[in-house]
Amino acid sequence: MNLPDPLDRHALAELARDVAEQAGRLIVQGRPDRLEVSSKSSRRDIVTEMDQRAQDALCEALAAARPDDAILGEEQGGRPGTSGLTWVLDPIDGTVNYLYGLSPFSVSVAVVEGDPTTWGRWSPLAGAVVIPPVGLTYLATLGGGAMVQDAHGAREVRASSAAELSMALVATGFAYGAELRCVQTRAFVEIIPKVRDIRRTGSAAADLCWVADGRLDGYFEAGLHAWDVAAGQLIATEAGAVLHGLGDEVPNGDLYAMSAPGISADFAALLRSAHRSS
Ligand code: IPD
Repeated sequence: MNLPDPLDRHALAELARDVAEQAGRLIVQGRPDRLEVSSKSSRRDIVTEMDQRAQDALCEALAAARPDDAILGEEQGGRPGTSGLTWVLDPIDGTVNYLYGLSPFSVSVAVVEGDPTTWGRWSPLAGAVVIPPVGLTYLATLGGGAMVQDAHGAREVRASSAAELSMALVATGFAYGAELRCVQTRAFVEIIPKVRDIRRTGSAAADLCWVADGRLDGYFEAGLHAWDVAAGQLIATEAGAVLHGLGDEVPNGDLYAMSAPGISADFAALLRSAHRSS
């Protein structure tokens, strides 16, 4: 497949940003007083009516603008395509924060080539993450850098210059399943004495954007899916952050990590040893 040329990638990123911002307005302004909630993989893994409404709105806008592309979303819906490109959507990343009225929650929209249902078989070409509670929109194109837009305008983002793991502020998240959570907490116990501190924001997409702009020095989690990370991954790597997984393999459901370049070797070694012994 021929990659879209850089100009087209820029147009794809602008489309990702526009539809993500529309969905961001919908989930904030359209939130009903009483939110309907149902569960997915476990009673703790929830979906609200606004996740589904936001995904439906994203699908409608993308299908109108890019009728030949496939769509894969976290919620129900989606469509096959013929172009070789797939839009990967998380209409609300941080649904539990959204339910409880906490920040952050985000809308994540990426366009990838390859098969986004299998780790290691897809790569993002353009993407945007909108974080409505803090008024931030991040976007990136492959080879074109990453930017953040806020009320004051737009600027390029760069990962932090952290060089010492013991002084690094990192974030993590926890899966909904109890068994994986036990593995994650055993690894957590190994990791927390070796870093400045660990944050659990509740939105993987926001975590990756905050590694991209240096608010965090690193991020790691197990049990993620492409829709949690596709846009944030491109934003972070275009900002100079380093992507890693367990061993030499690409990141996958066992471990997904991103960090500032100056700590990436030490962070990867710590995460691997902590997860292998857990
Ligand atoms: C969740 C968030 C959270 C992470 C979970 C994800 P969702 O996504 O990204 O930070 O720890 O693993 O499932 O369910 O709110 O879209």
